[in-house]
Amino acid sequence: NGIALVLGTRPEIIKLAPVIQACERRSVPHTLIHTGQHYSETLDSVFFDQLGLPDPDYNLGVGSADHGKQTGEMLIGVERILQECDPETVLVQGDTNSVLAGALAASKLDVRLGHVEAGLRSGDREMPEETNRTLADHAADRCFAPTEQSRDNLLAEGIPEERIEVTGNTVVDALERHKELARERTTALADLGLDEDDYAVMTLHRAENVDDPERFRALLFGASRAGDSHGLPVVYPIHPRARERIEEFDITVPEPIRLVEPREYLEFIRLEDAASIILTDSGGVQEEACILGTPCVTLRDNTERPETISAGANVLAGPDPATIIHRVEEMIDTDGDWENPFGDGTAGEQILQAVTRAPEEVPQ
Ligand code: UD1
Ligand code: UDP
Repeated sequence: NGIALVLGTRPEIIKLAPVIQACERRSVPHTLIHTGQHYSETLDSVFFDQLGLPDPDYNLGVGSADHGKQTGEMLIGVERILQECDPETVLVQGDTNSVLAGALAASKLDVRLGHVEAGLRSGDREMPEETNRTLADHAADRCFAPTEQSRDNLLAEGIPEERIEVTGNTVVDALERHKELARERTTALADLGLDEDDYAVMTLHRAENVDDPERFRALLFGASRAGDSHGLPVVYPIHPRARERIEEFDITVPEPIRLVEPREYLEFIRLEDAASIILTDSGGVQEEACILGTPCVTLRDNTERPETISAGANVLAGPDPATIIHRVEEMIDTDGDWENPFGDGTAGEQILQAVTRAPEEVPQ
């Protein structure tokens, strides 16, 4: 009974933390089901520790594999656990394979499903994330949309209004809770020999960017030239997927890019906060840059976070090095006083309240 939260990757741990903490505050029974999609300490257990989360009640330990095998094993495992613990509601967050598996398992068992961060669309059907998030939205009984724009995307696909609630994004709750701590407690800059406002941070991990050697090389070259032209080191905490590709394609990473291990959450948000500029292909990092007031150049051809672009916090640059250099030039001196479009930091509470509302109040 109660709520089962299915999670499996770094961003889901971070963005479900505010909902888990709201469950704890309100003594709502909850079960944490970890698919094991991420398992390296730097992508997984450090976040449980730093965010003060309880250990998962279940860990399926599925690990890495091709999409079908990975998603299929997670589906089998999540279904078995849901049959065992019989929750009233299942929550999934975001757009990974863990989300798709959790959503399918819940909907086939006819358990109420809530999708946190619903309604994001890049319009790019080649991204596995676009498939995952769209299917999860359509399977869900409750879609927790972070913004009006994501709500409109759902309505445009025929999802009934009663299923949708605009709550803001839980990324704001997590940042508000940890931003000051990150300033006070971490030595994130000193550890890497960096000075405030005198470096760039980069993350690149998305399959479409790093699995293609020519594209990955072009992105690295563009980022290195952009760093050079402003005299900035480009610190790149590297996701294991990208690290493997660098080895496999025998890529020499150009200066002034500095590869470092993935950072813990507090260390990373401190790095984002104090950077001159952020270069990224991450969804969560685009949002955090916008919320923290650090200008961002997104190293992709599209984004499912267009609110960051309308706010003036983010611009797109594909793999063309000249475009990357130009976009960095354009953004680097922006002052960061745009509005945060992702809500007031109460998304976790709002989602829990919606989920625990008495049955007669819940739209059918
Ligand atoms: C997944 C999500 C992506 C999300 C990202 C967050 C899908 C389809 N993709 O991508 O949307 O942005 O997580 O970080 O769900 N690996 C490790 N250790 C780990 C996990 C992965 O070394 O703990 C390596 C393995 O070599 C693996 C590769 O990274 O093959 C890719 O892992 P996978 O879970 O398939 O996708 P991500 O790239 O992490
Ligand atoms: N993050 C982190 N350490 C890092 C890189 C990212 O803690 O070295 C955090 C970041 O603050 C954000 C989340 O990881 O909250 C984003 O995850 P990721 O980029 O892996 O996934 P995406 O958001 O693209 O799905």
